[in-house]
Amino acid sequence: MRVPLIAGNWKMNGSAELVDAFGRAFADAQLPASLDVALFPPFPYLDAARRALAETPVKLGAQTLNPLASGAHTGEVSGGMLKELGVEYALAGHSERRQLYREDDEAVLDRLLAALSVSLTPVLCVGETLEERDANRTRDVVLRQVGYVMARLEPVQRRQVIIAYEPVWAIGTGRTATPEQAQEVMAAIREYQASFDRELADGLRLLYGGSMNASNAAELLSQPDIDGGLVGGASLKVDDFLAICQSAG
Ligand code: 13P
Repeated sequence: MRVPLIAGNWKMNGSAELVDAFGRAFADAQLPASLDVALFPPFPYLDAARRALAETPVKLGAQTLNPLASGAHTGEVSGGMLKELGVEYALAGHSERRQLYREDDEAVLDRLLAALSVSLTPVLCVGETLEERDANRTRDVVLRQVGYVMARLEPVQRRQVIIAYEPVWAIGTGRTATPEQAQEVMAAIREYQASFDRELADGLRLLYGGSMNASNAAELLSQPDIDGGLVGGASLKVDDFLAICQSAG
């Protein structure tokens, strides 16, 4: 039985005030018994979030990390530093990092390995652009992104990885993938993982991301291969994010 995970990626948004509002709301919230929740605020809010959410089940995640442990890399943050702040998850390969910061599959792998090396749970993000979908290349693109990383991990490392399927055309556009579209790709990812190891595939947690909101979450999460959500815009509204968490029960 896979425990669902609802993760809120604030991207470069949020405020100290919002951190406090989440702390208050989650302290009072009745969450489903079997559910993991994580918040990925920008780095400057991580420490305040740790304090605000200390009495709640909400865990913390980092939106990115540098592959190296330390050194002359102005502006960068290492996995060890995040670990010290109580962070438990780290994203690798978000499409905004792939597109805006030119992170290719190798850069994604380096970040994912850096997360694993300090026992952060990596969330590998994959997804096709609209152009790739229209050219019927969705499956090839997504399985290449998954395969590049998975083929280079040890079996024990593969079992740590969570995968988020985020079609690029659905991110921040209000245009959600239909439950059938998301299910089709996510079933293909699980099948692909089964080529390494059936048990790994059965235990793999797959998240959907892309305009998930309080109205469409329940239907998406009812699909057999959708084990949770990576929520962007709707994770900036406490009530909406809570409603998404409730619908994962
Ligand atoms: P939206 O929910 O705003 O579409 O963002 C999804 C996302 O990119 C989460 O990482």
